[in-house]
Amino acid sequence: MPSEVTVVILAAGLGTRMRSRRAKVLHRAGGLSLVEHAVNTALEIAEPARTFVVVGHQAERVREVVADRGVAFIAQAEQKGTGHALLSGQLELATLGGLLVIFYGDCPLILGSTLTQLVAQQLASSAAATIITTDLPDPTGYGRVIRTADGVVAIVEQKAGTPDQLAVREINAGIYCFRADLFWKHVGEIQPNNPAKEYYLTDMIEILIRAGHHIDAMKVADSGELLGINNRIELANVDRIFRARKVRQLMLDGVTVEKPETVTVDSGVTVGMDTVIEPFAQLLGQTHIGEDCRIGACSIVGDSNLADGVVVAPFTMIGTSRLESGVTVGPFARLRMGNHLAKNAHIGNFVELKKARVGAGAKAGHLAYLGDCNIGESVNIGAGTITCNFDGVQKHGTRIGDGVFVGSNSTLVAPIEIGAGAYLAAGSVITENVPEKALALGRARQVIKEGWKKKGQPAKKDLPTAP
Ligand code: UD1
Ligand code: CA
Repeated sequence: MPSEVTVVILAAGLGTRMRSRRAKVLHRAGGLSLVEHAVNTALEIAEPARTFVVVGHQAERVREVVADRGVAFIAQAEQKGTGHALLSGQLELATLGGLLVIFYGDCPLILGSTLTQLVAQQLASSAAATIITTDLPDPTGYGRVIRTADGVVAIVEQKAGTPDQLAVREINAGIYCFRADLFWKHVGEIQPNNPAKEYYLTDMIEILIRAGHHIDAMKVADSGELLGINNRIELANVDRIFRARKVRQLMLDGVTVEKPETVTVDSGVTVGMDTVIEPFAQLLGQTHIGEDCRIGACSIVGDSNLADGVVVAPFTMIGTSRLESGVTVGPFARLRMGNHLAKNAHIGNFVELKKARVGAGAKAGHLAYLGDCNIGESVNIGAGTITCNFDGVQKHGTRIGDGVFVGSNSTLVAPIEIGAGAYLAAGSVITENVPEKALALGRARQVIKEGWKKKGQPAKKDLPTAP
């Protein structure tokens, strides 16, 4: 059955009501662009070679975004309506028999299981097409489904409807399953005879009925899945539904989510059992989190891998990093990119890491910048430590051996190597390599002047006063 199904996704429009320079299907909801959602869903019922995306506005960009899915494209240079979009691909598409499923790229919540049901209903019926409909409390903007005693007879667009027709609350969701042979036989009959002067795909209903066929409707009770996006208010609403859907699935899979309505989790994210996600946390992109972790309130984790038992304290940002089991970071830590923290490493508040490798059990508890560095096991980085990795022209690396103790407020001028077990005295500026187990002091020695107060200090009356 799947090889008999061709899917066409309409994604050529600009989406005027979005008031954007970007094509509508490139806008994002639930962490993916709308066209990615549509393609992912289509691939649940059709082979990539039989999945077509109609592209027009910013066609190159739209193609790029879904190129890795192996789907095919149809160019619709000028957008003369949803029917015209299909006509643009007639040459390639009309040779493909079986069933033709069509839906719109601005309707990203639709589930693969609903499309499967649509195909099954069409296969079981003698109709020329089955369309998905639903009742909406406010149907404004949608095509209305017109029925008589014979069943569905037409879809009437908002701009073309009579007051009676516009009072109908059953709407066309824009998801259709046609018998491909009948569709291609009659598609040429669509005329742009409506106020918008567009070729409406929805006219196919009346055309097929005129040709003596019957149209079936699959009425869906939960209209949430069918919401289309025409403006940014609807985009935000759909995004919220995606978030709720994802978080709900995580909870069913054994993740504790506190105040779930505040949490943002992208669709590609996985989270292990008994992990706790605190309010306002965001887990983005390809992030994978193990079991028994804690993601602190207001933390943002993107494209990162966290093993089991990792604790991210509140207000921490983590990008493209790998944290092994038992690592603790934050609060207020920033792991920018390309970091690898080995088991039980600890990064505390106001510490910034960039391309840092931190050995097992190493600690940087407070106020440090550690960039382009390799830090050994059980190293202790004192508060205020800075790896000076940039000389104004180039970046350089810092290597700190196992068990090194870096005193507070140390400045390590890269390229530099600190041997295992060495000590760096607090406040040092280290510009030369330090051998293993050595103590390095790189600061002016403190000078004490005994009895200086009596001899040298000016008397209180001589001290300058503030102006
Ligand atoms: C359409 C339906 C309407 C339905 C609603 C559901 C038609 C005529 N109307 O209205 O009955 O209730 O969707 O959401 O089909 N597109 C192209 N090429 C074009 C025109 C549009 O690819 O020439 C694409 C758009 O990029 C968009 C989709 O088709 O993704 C739907 O177009 P849109 O203008 O949003 O249709 P609606 O007015 O919402
Ligand atoms: Ca629309």
